[in-house]
Amino acid sequence: PLPPPQAVHAAAAAAPSYPRYTREEVGRHRSPEQRVWVTHGTDVFDVTDFVELHPGGPDKILLAAGGALEPFWALYAVHGEPHVLELLQQYKVGELGPDEAPPTPSAQDPFAGDPPRHPGLRVNSQKPFNAEPPAELLAESFLTPNELFFTRNHLPVPAVEPGSYRLRVEGPGGRALSLSLDELRSRFPKHEVTATLQCAGNRRAEMSRVRPVKGLPWDIGAIGTARWGGARLRDVLLHAGFPEEREGEWHVCFEGLDADPGGAPYGASIPYGRALSPAADVLLAYEMNGAQLPRDHGFPLRVVVPGVVGARSVKWLSRVAVSPAESPSHWQRNDYKGFSPCVDWDTVDYRTAPAIQELPVQSAVTQPRPGAAVPPGELTVKGYAWSGGGREVVRVDVSLDGGRTWRVARLAGERAPPGRAWAWALWELTVPVTAGSELEIVCKAVDGSYNVQPDSVAPIWNLRGVLSTAWHRVRVSVRD
Ligand code: MTE
Repeated sequence: PLPPPQAVHAAAAAAPSYPRYTREEVGRHRSPEQRVWVTHGTDVFDVTDFVELHPGGPDKILLAAGGALEPFWALYAVHGEPHVLELLQQYKVGELGPDEAPPTPSAQDPFAGDPPRHPGLRVNSQKPFNAEPPAELLAESFLTPNELFFTRNHLPVPAVEPGSYRLRVEGPGGRALSLSLDELRSRFPKHEVTATLQCAGNRRAEMSRVRPVKGLPWDIGAIGTARWGGARLRDVLLHAGFPEEREGEWHVCFEGLDADPGGAPYGASIPYGRALSPAADVLLAYEMNGAQLPRDHGFPLRVVVPGVVGARSVKWLSRVAVSPAESPSHWQRNDYKGFSPCVDWDTVDYRTAPAIQELPVQSAVTQPRPGAAVPPGELTVKGYAWSGGGREVVRVDVSLDGGRTWRVARLAGERAPPGRAWAWALWELTVPVTAGSELEIVCKAVDGSYNVQPDSVAPIWNLRGVLSTAWHRVRVSVRD
């Protein structure tokens, strides 16, 4: 029953009036030492005393420290329940001032039209936008939520009007097809593939600790897994009149709608055989995890080349062409190649190395994080493992003593047909640990061809910091 109206008025009169804060002031409260503040709607909360009580763990709630809770709550449905809001009310300390609207982007800025992003991402460069999820969230779900999926952009995000969008497919004999989004959806069967995308620069930060390299300092999060939906590239190429197989060397070249100031679009290519093979599952994707492809990930259409370096999965796809040569793009010819540690910027000759396509076996520890203090008792170590070319991960070995002794982790993932293991395996190991010990946690994965990761970074160091796949090492101390 509703309370009588007088009671409502009395309660309103007794409601405390709260001090007003700016978002900037809230943003200064990011750690237990400075107090941990968050906002929800226009309310400001001091949740310092709740951090240790957070059911998802203190590290997770701290990701929202100094900012809004909504973007995180949107990812984890439990927060939508009324008791969570009620609990939060106990911690209210203020309200946002009436002028606290989000800042408006400047019209002069080529990146002004970029989409809004999740504030929990770790930004490696704002313009162009390059960001990865916090490592501790990476292995929390087999499919990476779209909002947290790493973004690797070389240029501003193009604004595409889906109604007038056309994909140009250059067919044999100079004929060209122009396909609208509706035609791509209706003329070709929808095919779905769960595939991991990894940037060639994933874990570059570890390589630059050995010797400086050129490139964004990715930690372990330039990797993610999604269920992609779209038309098979093979079906579109057959429809355009190309044969199943071709003699000699041929490549399928892709161009994006994003172009550099000189007008050169982002581009890349893959071998013809991979593009046409029904077992290679190459997609022209318009869906990511059941949703429309987000703008940062290539809306309205992108290529997804499972098992192959992310650079070939061209976003905002505008053109597909078949050529006897690889894509002329800078990113195919003069980047995304591996070199010997003896090659430097004075001696490098990009013509001497093949473009990276299938990636080598990779793994990393996502939890605990380097430098963490973990309580004695049971320690759960978590991480991901993946290999290129559809080679499944058959084992992950974990050491707590820097690689002297090993245990085998428990793998979780989806079983795939042989040679088509496009998605990562998540792994976990629970071990007893005693107070006072210093641990060097190490992981290494083995794929179906018994490929293993190299034990250290120095012998695979290269000037561009790509293919960083050495054993991942995380030092933690065990303390009460
Ligand atoms: N496609 C276009 N058009 N422009 C780009 O900058 N970046 C590439 C690839 N496709 C890129 C692109 C690189 S290097 C990677 S690793 C992947 O997209 C990243 O995809 P994501 O941002 O969806 O994670």
